[in-house]
Amino acid sequence: MTSLGKDTGNPAAIEISGLHKSFGANEVLRGIDFRVEAGEVVCVIGPSGSGKSTLLRCVNLLEEPSAGTVRVGGAEVTDPEVDIDAVRRRIGMVFQSFNLFPHLTALGNVVIAQRKVLRRGRAEAERTARENLERVGLADKVDAYPAQLSGGQQQRVAIARALAMGPEVMLFDEPTSALDPELVGDVLGVMRGLAEAGMTMLVVTHEMSFAREVADRVVFMDGGVVVEEGPPARVIGDPEHERTRTFLSRVLDPAAARIEDGPGSDMFRSPAADA
Ligand SMILES: Nc1ncnc2c1ncn2[C@@H]1O[C@H](COP(=O)(O)OP(=O)(O)OP(=O)(O)O)[C@@H](O)[C@H]1O
Ligand SMILES: [Mg+2]
Repeated sequence: MTSLGKDTGNPAAIEISGLHKSFGANEVLRGIDFRVEAGEVVCVIGPSGSGKSTLLRCVNLLEEPSAGTVRVGGAEVTDPEVDIDAVRRRIGMVFQSFNLFPHLTALGNVVIAQRKVLRRGRAEAERTARENLERVGLADKVDAYPAQLSGGQQQRVAIARALAMGPEVMLFDEPTSALDPELVGDVLGVMRGLAEAGMTMLVVTHEMSFAREVADRVVFMDGGVVVEEGPPARVIGDPEHERTRTFLSRVLDPAAARIEDGPGSDMFRSPAADA
């Protein structure tokens, strides 16, 4: 959202070059190239199976790329000599599933990685945890256990947990797609606040209104390649490629797409449509 760090010459926050990833004979990423500048919010959209999660998992080395390079803040994370733990500390990740420890409170969940990974002292870890829980609107839930929290609150604890590690960039993989519709807005609101505060974010999402309003750029992936990228008004509002248009029509109006394209669609076709 900000122009912070967009000066030419600064290393990109994330730079992906010639990235390939295969699982056996299945080539899932077929040469991905794009940059995320510091302070930028980039949303990745695309059909199921197009390789969006694999792309994010290659950025923080949960998957090892088959070829190509990923740089974070100028440092090559795909260098075989790299300290993977040091890389992961620079990158916050939020998944569809929140993966909180059920036996720890919200506070405990945000404290534990700071203690174990960053070796922070208890007082500092708790202070940082409280600050970040407050930042995601959960100051009054620090002592609640995950089972006492809604899905949206649990996801906000997961975001606070990632932020407490002081990441340079945040990766989000469909953070709202496991939530009941009425809880989605709170999580997107927190993400919007982070974007406005200048956080660099790479977000896989099906929330087109979020992408339209918050993203600086939208990347549309299909079949393991970037089909098109650009400002949201262009990629979502006026896409260049047929594949993008087809995807958007399904996402924006799933019911209509199903009647038109799904099996058994003839049942719904009125005789007039064939005339
Ligand atoms: N660990 C794995 N082992 C084998 N195949 C995998 C693995 N992870 C992903 N794949 C395959 O890679 C392809 C892309 O999967 P990926 O999860 O990246 O897609 P996606 O775009 O995130 O889809 P969705 O929108 O459904 O989350 C799929 O064909 C999937 O089966
Ligand atoms: Mg996925």
